[in-house]
This record gives sequence, C-alpha cells and structure tokens, in this order.
Amino acid sequence: MSEFFALVPAAGSGSRMGSGLPKQYLALAGQPMIYHALATLCANVDISIVFVVLAPDDEQWHRYDWSRFGDKLQPLFCGGALRAESVLNGLMAAELEPDSWVLVHDAARPCLSQAQLARLISELRDDEVGGILAMPVADTLKRAAAGQRIARTENREGLWQAQTPQMFRTGLLLQALQGARNVTDEAAAVEALGLHPKLVESESTNFKVTYPQDIRLAELLLGSEKK
Ligand code: CTP
Ligand code: MG
Repeated sequence: MSEFFALVPAAGSGSRMGSGLPKQYLALAGQPMIYHALATLCANVDISIVFVVLAPDDEQWHRYDWSRFGDKLQPLFCGGALRAESVLNGLMAAELEPDSWVLVHDAARPCLSQAQLARLISELRDDEVGGILAMPVADTLKRAAAGQRIARTENREGLWQAQTPQMFRTGLLLQALQGARNVTDEAAAVEALGLHPKLVESESTNFKVTYPQDIRLAELLLGSEKK
C-alpha cells in the first residue's frame, strides 16, 4: 500500500492581502493562519508526514512553537518565486517514493475540514491519475471589457473552481511540474501531460483567504466549527 504525505506551499508574500507580514502568518482565530491547515493535515491518520515549504529567508516560522505536531510536521526552507517552484523544490527535498501520494494544500485555506480531506483521499486512493477538491461555479460569470463594463455573459455550465488539497502520485507530479513551471495549480501541470485529474466535489467553506475581508469570514467558520 502506498503512503500518503501532505505538502503545504507557504513561501508566498500575500501581496493581495496588502499587509507587511506574509499572509500565512497573519493572526486568525488566535493562531498564525497556517496553523489551522497544518493542524487539520497533521490530525489525519492516513498522512505520514506534513511538509511545509517556506521561503529560504523566512523569519517568522521560528517565532512559533510547533512542537505539538512532533515529527509529523517538517519545515523545508526551499520555497521559490512561483507557487509551482515552491511545490517542485519541496517535492525534491522531501525525497518520497514515486508511487506515494502527495496532497498539496495551500497554507491560505485554513478552513479545510476533516470530512473534506477524508472524502478526497477515499475517492482518489485507487485512482490512476489523482485529482483535486473543487466546487461547481455557482455565480453567473461576466467577461469584462474596457472601463470595467460587461462585454458578455459566459456560460458557466461545466465550470468548476479549483481548490486544494490536490492529490497526485509523487513521481507523476514531479514529472509534471518539471515540464510546466508557470502553472497556478498542480492539476494544470498534470493536465499538460494530457491526463485528466478527477474533480472531487468540495464546499465553499474551503475557500482561499486572499483579501483582508476574508480573515473575518475564516474566523467565523473556524469559531462555529468548535461549538
Ligand atoms: N506560495 C508559495 N510560493 C510562492 C507563491 C505562493 O509557496 N512563490 C503559496 C502561498 O504561500 C499560499 C499558496 O501558495 O500558501 C497559495 O498562493 P496565494 O494564495 O496566491 O498566496 P500568495 O502568493 O502569498 O498571495 P498573493 O498571490 O496575493 O501574493
Ligand atoms: Mg499568489
């Protein structure tokens, strides 16, 4: 049976958040944002090790006490300039068996639930290609033209929003990322090989904290979960 690992790219700067501190370290429900995703991944019994890919010049990680996660949590200071580079560098540093599964999850998705994580693993563990958590697009989509005016309405049928974790065999993902550095998620790199990752239906609660107003929403969700 192949093993499961998680890899959390956390080497971004959070430019859309507009804060001095990289967003993965912003305070969220009494912890740095990244804590929440790491706690969820570390609590999953199928996952052996949770790797965190940090910027080589990260100055924040060591300010916090991570000892409660023990050896299950392993920081790697090898992040790159692009998300795909951070993931690729992390995979190379982790030196995993090619047929092991790796679940790549954004540090900026603190509200991933155990149920969503378990569904992803159970739906994909026997899959040939792997896949991702995703949501069918709910809103009507508009194409913008000059002056922020609507050019037209796009057909949303069959469109999904990609989330993370994205789960692939380590060997396949390494091969895919070596050939496609400029992708915004792992699935896009695998698609570029001509493969078709599976869409595993998720929930909107697993959203990515991107803008300042997202912090409050994430805190509300995390707070209500504990009650
Ligand atoms: N990430 C990374 N290395 C990069 C860029 C991003 O590891 N060079 C990580 C981020 O830290 C985050 C995840 O990829 O956990 C998703 O990226 P995103 O939400 O876009 O975060 P940032 O790139 O930090 O934010 P922004 O795009 O607003 O600058
Ligand atoms: Mg980014």
